[in-house]
Amino acid sequence: MTAVDAIGGHGRTVQHRTSGLAPGLPKPRGPVTALLFRRLSTPPDGRALHLDVTGADLGDGDFQLALFACYELHYRGFAGVDERWEWEPSLLAARAVLERHFEKLLARAVPRPRVAGPHDVRRALVALTADDSGPSVSRFLARRADREQFREFVVHRSIYHLKEADPHTWAIPRLAGGPKAALVEIQADEYGGGRAERMHSELFRATMRGLGLDDSYGAYLDRVPGITLAISNAMSLFGLHRRLRGALAGHLAALEMTSSLPNRRYAQGLRRLGGDAAAARFYDEHVQADAVHEQVAAHDLCAALAADEPHLAGDIVFGAACALELERSWAAYVMARWERGDSSLSRP
Ligand SMILES: [Fe+2]
Ligand SMILES: [Fe+2]
Repeated sequence: MTAVDAIGGHGRTVQHRTSGLAPGLPKPRGPVTALLFRRLSTPPDGRALHLDVTGADLGDGDFQLALFACYELHYRGFAGVDERWEWEPSLLAARAVLERHFEKLLARAVPRPRVAGPHDVRRALVALTADDSGPSVSRFLARRADREQFREFVVHRSIYHLKEADPHTWAIPRLAGGPKAALVEIQADEYGGGRAERMHSELFRATMRGLGLDDSYGAYLDRVPGITLAISNAMSLFGLHRRLRGALAGHLAALEMTSSLPNRRYAQGLRRLGGDAAAARFYDEHVQADAVHEQVAAHDLCAALAADEPHLAGDIVFGAACALELERSWAAYVMARWERGDSSLSRP
């Protein structure tokens, strides 16, 4: 449905439509998304929106998809959804209910790591990211996965990689001095240093095409489980709230500090399964880039931010722990299904 209002004045009407870059609304997965998507399909009218997520756990698909859709209004939106929903007070109030629940679930699932003070942030990040006791998807992909499982892996990752770096970019205006410069240095690489074809999201699209997958934004939103959406939702939660800027910086550091080696294994697995250089480039690029990014993120971004704003030290390390815990839960979910001979995605 196209929404029309009178902002144009003088008899003109302004249509609030999202561009062709946006996917359509996904299919509802339960009562929460059914109600939310029904409302999003009509123009905002100021009516209150009550979304009840009591009892939903971290992997609840209905809950995570509802939160994901609320956040997506700040990224590319959805085709056919009035763009004014982004700042509609009733939507923001409903989103706040989902976020409170998500924060409670994260607090329950992720014990706050011990940090002795701002000077201890780097050590705490290194200690956290050195623990690789969880199920290793990257080792499985390197040596044993079949092509279908590799394609599934890429489908899961497409939810984030097709907007790679965007959630962490929210922090740029919220930082100052050294930490801001460090984040911009990382993000400039993620966005291809000014060359669209080198943007990491574009390299990932080449990986998808090389595996015969649909590389359009949001194409697989209906196929991925709640835990995959939770990974993206944590970044958006930390990114969209200035009070959580410490957690966002720590989250980015955790991604960068656990990237180089797994990406080497992904590239190895993809080549073993016949992937060519263009398809593997996304992974090859991360082996190189993230060896540098991990230093910049841990030292120049996180340790420097803790020095500038000492009260953020605990949040920085907590954000990193959240990233790692969600990744572990996701890996356990995927590996359990693959070990049973099942797909880790829902049926089309
Ligand atoms: Fe990247
Ligand atoms: Fe990176």
